[in-house]
Amino acid sequence: MKDLRTIILAAGKGTRMKSRLPKVLHCVCGKTIISLVVDLARAVGSLKTCVVLGHQSDKIKDHLSGNIHVVIQEKLLGTADAVLSASNSLKGFHGDVLILSGDAPLFRKETIKALLRKHKKAQAACTFLTAVVRDSYGYGRVIRGSSGEAIAIREEKDATDYEKNIVEINAGVYCFNCRILLDVIKQIKLNKRKKEYYLTDIIEILSEKGYKVEVVEADDASESLGINTKEDLAQAEAVMRGRILRDFMLSGITIIDPQTTFIGMNVRIGRDTLINPFTVIEDNVCIGSNCTIGPFARLRTGTKLKDNVTIGNFTEVSRTEIGEHSIMKHFGFLGDAKVGKSVNVGAGVVTANYDGKNKNKTHILDKAFIGSDSILVAPVKIGRKALTGAGCVVTKGTNVGDNAVVVGVPGRIKNNKK
Ligand code: UD1
Ligand code: CA
Repeated sequence: MKDLRTIILAAGKGTRMKSRLPKVLHCVCGKTIISLVVDLARAVGSLKTCVVLGHQSDKIKDHLSGNIHVVIQEKLLGTADAVLSASNSLKGFHGDVLILSGDAPLFRKETIKALLRKHKKAQAACTFLTAVVRDSYGYGRVIRGSSGEAIAIREEKDATDYEKNIVEINAGVYCFNCRILLDVIKQIKLNKRKKEYYLTDIIEILSEKGYKVEVVEADDASESLGINTKEDLAQAEAVMRGRILRDFMLSGITIIDPQTTFIGMNVRIGRDTLINPFTVIEDNVCIGSNCTIGPFARLRTGTKLKDNVTIGNFTEVSRTEIGEHSIMKHFGFLGDAKVGKSVNVGAGVVTANYDGKNKNKTHILDKAFIGSDSILVAPVKIGRKALTGAGCVVTKGTNVGDNAVVVGVPGRIKNNKK
């Protein structure tokens, strides 16, 4: 979209989070709230994004990547003031401006695109997103006129009892004609109760002046959740996690208990893989088809499992590649390892990958049999069809040849051909 720019409002203190960490640096499914909102702006085709920061701006700046323009709101005088502090970056721009809240990361790009489409088609001065929610407490309520048009947004503190019962809320996403926005925003008056300039007051002004205001109602109200408290944060995590799991289930993955399954971002899983309860799969993990994972398994970032791999209960696999038909059925830890095909990793096997300074690699070649309770002190290599006896400790730097057998503590190698 050639003539679209975005302003993300993220200067607020986030007082209700009761945290030293800035609100927008909290994570939802492993990604910071602000990065999810920035990604959304890019995904809907915005060419320039301006983020308004204030409270703890230095910390947040360090987390912004890519071509982002940052402006500082000197005093936190409300959402209209935040937009005004970004207005210099809009001088001479005649297109549309999308405004997003830095604390609302759950919108789908399709929802925002629908809003932008309606705005363009209607040639409106402003189009904003609404949602019908069960509990509208804390949100701005949408006031509709006699013919159903939106004529104002009323904030919680200023709402009458009647208005408080309204369940259609302002989701905090707006598309403005830039020229009209910059002209009318200056007319917003200070809200005396809160000592802030509310961006939401612009709707009443536009509507009184006869400008066209349109609304789009979100199909799925859960998208509009704004994160103000740690309770909201947990709710956002649940919504996002639910979406990820649903997509996997629809693509042919069996998830026995979505309630206790956690899957991060950028994970790939092949068809007919079965995920048992209490399983955590972190970001950037790749799992083949027909695998069985869990219960109580943790697959950490960078792990790659080929097809037909079994990872059983009480297991942690980190930055490790495992070849086809290999199994690790019972408790154990594999870290920084490369495991071949048809390898059996017995119960209680541990790769000791960290020596206090470096993470070292373990190589286990095809068809090796790692006996129960073996400890492999990395760097170490176990050859093809080699066997480690139960309870042995294969010491650091050992190269166990193909078909060799290692037993005891420290591990002694029999018939090592290397
Ligand atoms: C705001 C809306 C409300 C809407 C809700 C949706 C206003 C007045 N109210 O309420 O109608 O239902 O979002 O989630 O806009 N911010 C600044 N500078 C400021 C104040 C806020 O940048 O001076 C930023 C905040 O960091 C936040 C966003 O603007 O990312 C919204 O502010 P917040 O205080 O969270 O507003 P809400 O009370 O949630
Ligand atoms: Ca908010």
